[in-house]
Amino acid sequence: MKKICVLILLIFSLPILAIEKIKLPEPNFKGLVFEEALKKRRSVRSYTKEALSLTEISQLLFSAQGITTTYYGHKLRTAPSAGALYPFEIYLVVNNGEKLKSGIYHYLVEEHSLEIVKEGNFREKIKNATLGQEPVAQAGIVFLLTAVFERTTKKYGERGIRYIHIEAGHIGQNILLQATSLGLATVPMGAFSDQEVNKLIGIDGKKQSTVYLILVGKK
Ligand SMILES: Cc1cc2nc3c(=O)[nH]c(=O)nc-3n(C[C@H](O)[C@H](O)[C@H](O)COP(=O)(O)O)c2cc1C
Repeated sequence: MKKICVLILLIFSLPILAIEKIKLPEPNFKGLVFEEALKKRRSVRSYTKEALSLTEISQLLFSAQGITTTYYGHKLRTAPSAGALYPFEIYLVVNNGEKLKSGIYHYLVEEHSLEIVKEGNFREKIKNATLGQEPVAQAGIVFLLTAVFERTTKKYGERGIRYIHIEAGHIGQNILLQATSLGLATVPMGAFSDQEVNKLIGIDGKKQSTVYLILVGKK
């Protein structure tokens, strides 16, 4: 009888345990002419209260790590990666996004989807983790670029750490130019407590750690 009760409980709790996934709209590849985006990109630190649309969020994520082609079995992405090893995992703090609950999400590259990590209002926590920088609480979304170091160091050793930092720049610039192309406001951030941001996401800070932050909001 006890076993049956446990079984029934398990069956009914399955939908609650299942991770919530949000399929993102297809990227549309329309925006400013590249040269115009280059000229217009500027660090902007004030944002309106308007939510970012799911299409905008989708396009920004795609620009960061979207799969663009397959080459000899390797799924290649928008940003280059040493040895096509792709050490980055991207998380988003969503403060203000259309059709998305406030919370922390993880980008599933292969599915072009988001999975929810934690639901809730993290404006103050992420602001505190960035030495109190106010724009972090006002941005619609905050990209957290985290790296799983071993993916690259297992092939390149210590030099892999250099490659990872270079790659953060590639991904970051893609997001900044994409945001500019969509007419959005954006700024990169290096001033934050690794420990506090890692704790917020729930990563260990050793095997995987946050390397770079990018804010995006409506102008
Ligand atoms: C690695 C890096 C870290 C940065 N960190 C911060 C930051 O923590 N806070 C901030 O407001 N801006 C930050 N910035 C943005 C710079 O202040 C900005 O790029 C610079 O003032 C030049 O302005 P521009 O981006 O409009 O060309 C950072 C930029 C880079 C490249």
